[in-house]
Amino acid sequence: MATRALMVVTLLAFCGCALTVAAKSWWETASFYQIYPRSFKDSDGDGVGDLNGVTSMLPYLKEIGITGAWLSPFLKSPMADFGYDVSNFTDVDPLFGTMEDFERLLAKAKELDIKILLDFVPNHSSDECEWFIKSAARDPVYKDYYMWHPGKLVDGKRQPPNNWISLFYGSAWQWHEGRQEYYFHQFDKKQPDFNFRNPAVREAMNNVLRFWLEKGVDGFRIDAIHHVFEIEADEDGNYADEPVSGWSNDPLNYGYVRHIYTIDQWENPHLVYEWRQVLEDYRAEHGGDERILMIEAWSALDIMMQYYGNETAEGGQIPFNFQLISYLDRNSDAYLYAEVINRWFQYMPTGRTPNWVIGNHDKSRVATRFGVERIDLFNILLLTLPGCSITYNGDEIGMTDVWISWEDTVDPQACNSAQEGYEWRSRDPARTPHQWSDTANAGFTTGQKTWLPISEDYKLVNVKRQRSVALSHLNVFKNLQQLRKTATLQDGETEVKALNNNVLAVKRSLRENYTYITLLNINIFDRIQNFNLHEHFADLPAEFEYVLITDRSIKRKGDKTPTSSVTLMPHESIVLRSSVRV
Ligand code: NOJ
Ligand code: MG
Repeated sequence: MATRALMVVTLLAFCGCALTVAAKSWWETASFYQIYPRSFKDSDGDGVGDLNGVTSMLPYLKEIGITGAWLSPFLKSPMADFGYDVSNFTDVDPLFGTMEDFERLLAKAKELDIKILLDFVPNHSSDECEWFIKSAARDPVYKDYYMWHPGKLVDGKRQPPNNWISLFYGSAWQWHEGRQEYYFHQFDKKQPDFNFRNPAVREAMNNVLRFWLEKGVDGFRIDAIHHVFEIEADEDGNYADEPVSGWSNDPLNYGYVRHIYTIDQWENPHLVYEWRQVLEDYRAEHGGDERILMIEAWSALDIMMQYYGNETAEGGQIPFNFQLISYLDRNSDAYLYAEVINRWFQYMPTGRTPNWVIGNHDKSRVATRFGVERIDLFNILLLTLPGCSITYNGDEIGMTDVWISWEDTVDPQACNSAQEGYEWRSRDPARTPHQWSDTANAGFTTGQKTWLPISEDYKLVNVKRQRSVALSHLNVFKNLQQLRKTATLQDGETEVKALNNNVLAVKRSLRENYTYITLLNINIFDRIQNFNLHEHFADLPAEFEYVLITDRSIKRKGDKTPTSSVTLMPHESIVLRSSVRV
């Protein structure tokens, strides 16, 4: 715990009694934003977003109340997986700009008091990374940097060492002519997996972290940590087959086997503990605010919790909470919402901070998954729950997936297998350029072409227009941030419950003597809801005030409602407040 901000502030309340509150570290109350740099803003007209583009839009982040951003990779890469195949971990890809551009980005962010997190991709590098090239050439320093295996001979024919499958389709083992061995890749064949059992690899990756800390970043989002270790080889150097799952008929499909040896190995969280120590050591030496780790793992809740750390080791401050993404869809009822939210609280070890995520560059957009009528609903939920929120760029204006033809599809997850079903696999639809204005190419680029098509709805759905519409998604988002700031909505106690099939309530009892209740009409039919809040929460005051409304509301901000009869219009989401704390 030495690492957490434990400055204790003693507040003297009016009644004269002393209230002790631990001051929170910056990230615990942060509103984060994920920037996918290829698609955020293009500064040089080549149709691909870049670092100078991001820098030019940092004031926008400030405008919408963002206090920290994590950037998908912009490092040197052949772009087989659009930057998640890094060929140099300490250099910027010219497509995105230069190191000086990044330094300017950081300086501007510091000026605006926005924290910047890098995407750290430890599981694999590009096959064009110097380390891999040297490893393939059996350079003594690098030869064991990756997972190599001679394969096995079946009827005199060379075969991959076992049945392990890549997430992007096909065997996870790729034959390398030069080295005359197979290498292992969980993702694309251009993304060879590192061998983290080699201490030299660990140190090399620790040095990558140190390099960027030295540049001044505030932390890292850690990519695909659940894939980082594989089971140890047996004494003959072989790896066991994974058991067949029975979920698929195609042995080359990722779902064909159960990934008991390639996912969630017990060592994975320990690597995060090691990285956290690197961050803490850096801070002990150089001072400054806490540096943080966001952890990407698609793992069961008990495993997710291990990433927070334990009694002896600190882990990542923010293990991404993907519960809302994994367990809800447009047909979920309010009971399921409540259960999914409460589960995180139940599992979370004492003293940790929750976080809420509903979208990212790998998933269909929230507006498409849940319908455009639920955009405000999710923004309100994410921003009024305690802890930190993480918003994927574009979700604040309700961007939707863009349909992209097979010919125009570029995502390897879609392209590596047959055309059939590509729309399910492709992540391109959620990665299209940000819609800034109603001018050509949505103001994303001055060039003629964009790397993915611009959504056809950009004339209606764009930042410029939504700035001028009173209760646009953007303005609701901004109002929320305002509320969050003035009300320190991250403090106090929380009760999340379904009032019926259709209405979810989040009750927040804040230390400044306020009670806030977020009410979401999530119902799948367009029905009005009316209910008596006294039946659901004890000791409520007789009346509440509307402090946040959306364009579904027929009430205005500042209006009052009797607690005994609250009405929600179809898909309406509101925040109510009383100055009585219960
Ligand atoms: C997770 C990233 O979010 C995804 O975009 C990428 O393809 C894989 N990890 C591999 O790095
Ligand atoms: Mg560009």
